[in-house]
Amino acid sequence: MNNRIPEELIEKIRTQVDIVDIIGEYVQLKKQGRNYFGLCPFHGENTPSFSVAPDKQIYHCFGCGAGGNVISFLMNIEGLSFTDSVKQLSLKTNVDISSYVSGVQTNEASHVSSDKDDMVKAHQLLKKFYHHLLVNTKEGEEALQYLLNRGFSKSMIDEFEIGFALPSRDMVVKFLSGHGFSLEKMYEAGLITKREAADVYFDRFRNRIMFPIHDAHGSPVAFSGRIFGDGEPKYLNSPETKLFNKRKIIYNFHNARLAIRQKEHAVLMEGFVDVISSVSIGVTEAVATMGTSLTDEQAKAIRRTTEQVIICYDGDQAGLEATVRAAQTLQSVGCTVRVATLPEGFDPDDYIRKYGGEKFVDHVIGAHETYMSFMLRFLKRRKNLQDEGDRIAYIEEVIQEISKLTSELEHNVYIQQLAKDVKLSEDILERQLKQVLSRRDSKSKQEKKAPTNRPLAYVSRGKLFPKHLTAERFLLAHMMRNADIADRVKEQIGGAFSNEYHKAIVTYLYSYYETGHEADISSILQHIKDDNIRNVASEIAMMSINEEPSQQELSDYMKQVHIHHKMEVIKEKEDEKRIAERESNYVRAAEIAMEIIKLKQLLKG
Ligand code: CTP
Ligand code: MN
Repeated sequence: MNNRIPEELIEKIRTQVDIVDIIGEYVQLKKQGRNYFGLCPFHGENTPSFSVAPDKQIYHCFGCGAGGNVISFLMNIEGLSFTDSVKQLSLKTNVDISSYVSGVQTNEASHVSSDKDDMVKAHQLLKKFYHHLLVNTKEGEEALQYLLNRGFSKSMIDEFEIGFALPSRDMVVKFLSGHGFSLEKMYEAGLITKREAADVYFDRFRNRIMFPIHDAHGSPVAFSGRIFGDGEPKYLNSPETKLFNKRKIIYNFHNARLAIRQKEHAVLMEGFVDVISSVSIGVTEAVATMGTSLTDEQAKAIRRTTEQVIICYDGDQAGLEATVRAAQTLQSVGCTVRVATLPEGFDPDDYIRKYGGEKFVDHVIGAHETYMSFMLRFLKRRKNLQDEGDRIAYIEEVIQEISKLTSELEHNVYIQQLAKDVKLSEDILERQLKQVLSRRDSKSKQEKKAPTNRPLAYVSRGKLFPKHLTAERFLLAHMMRNADIADRVKEQIGGAFSNEYHKAIVTYLYSYYETGHEADISSILQHIKDDNIRNVASEIAMMSINEEPSQQELSDYMKQVHIHHKMEVIKEKEDEKRIAERESNYVRAAEIAMEIIKLKQLLKG
């Protein structure tokens, strides 16, 4: 069924979606003038250099050089093939491409490449089956009762599609093979286990309450099964599979993303049960990690959606320490962190059950404090500031923390606070802070000297191009927007561009227009298959140019490009001449000298 999707349909799909909406699902975008800006999802950065142009329907990052149209964005961010990206986009339009590609029927399964389709489909079926067992069957009654006793309402159970796995050895094995799934594949998907030697398969989850886990698009990719009697482990998770990587998945992220954007903050918790409770009382921006510390990747995913994060971890020693770690990870990707502290011995779910949602919202989430104020408390705990050793350790630790803040104002505020706290003069503390800062400064300078691996030799940011390259860039920018201009340039200077990237782009452009395409920047970028060349093209497309250039302006650019190109040719000839002379081939040298004179005359004329 995998025929090539006709170009007209791809065009239709591409023009029916808005790149701002699509990228907006991954990156928090702010409008600035004509374009939108945000943090680049393709490289780590703390100041936005990623821009999206709604008029041209393209994006470009001025930091790392990545660029393209909505299809290449999906390909790069999701690691999808071209066809799968088009397929995913088609679901947002009324264009039906199901006769060209397989697996477009369901929204949820659509974003995974066909290899993973089956695994997601099995998760979808199985989660419905588990849910049915919990809510409709006698076998599920005890588990359901446990949940209701715990304070789960019927609607929460439905909303989060909570289910029940029977205490059976092969119920799921039969269910899945009955639906035609390959058991080996289901084993790979982590839904069943097998006996080492023989190919005998068993259910992985038995007699557990089943929580489906979804990826950032809402596709179910794993389960976590909670025991409801005695026994270990409390939660049994799906193993790491092609679909499920604990270090990447954020529980409830798919559902929460909109709320996070609207409320302009996320609430980060330790347990997914805490998230379910919180959502049920209106804290819809709650998300959780899957029992691991927050990873860089998860932090970056959150940062792309919001800058502000409220950490609300369990009120115990482990929770406090995890808060510090998560806060540092979040800050390192540019988040501002607040901390909502729970009373000792409570997690968010315990608190909500005991005191109700309103109290949780007002007295826990609403009472969040800045990271620094939390940190001062945290560092002081279990220290006796009357003790000399403790006091010095405390001062050093606090100064380390203060040094991580970037604004001088904040430095002053906290130095003042610390001075009062430990009864020392601000001067001494300030000097200490300066020392820490200058040590860090010289270290980071050393690091900067090390060569960086730029993927691209062509980076224009902050760089002044020589005149002829600027002219080439302007010409290309005009040629991308106007087929007539491209025609004229082709006639007058052809491929005589001197930069290798520009040469490649101009070649693409000529063939693009020759095959009857209209000027359309997004579509042009789609035709450029080489990432590096497309990135340069997207940057040039982003240049702001005079939409209706005069003949004079264009002729000037062409003249500059032309002259430079001829000069290059002359330089080459001069080199050739020198070689001929060195080889005592004076006849050849004289011939070349004539050619050079002619070329120079042409240039003058
Ligand atoms: N976790 C896990 N395996 C375990 C225990 C915990 O993967 N054996 C993970 C789960 O993702 C869980 C999170 O760690 O959501 C937090 O664990 P914990 O605080 O122990 O669970 P609670 O959220 O309090 O769950 P409950 O209220 O059901 O005890
Ligand atoms: Mn709990």
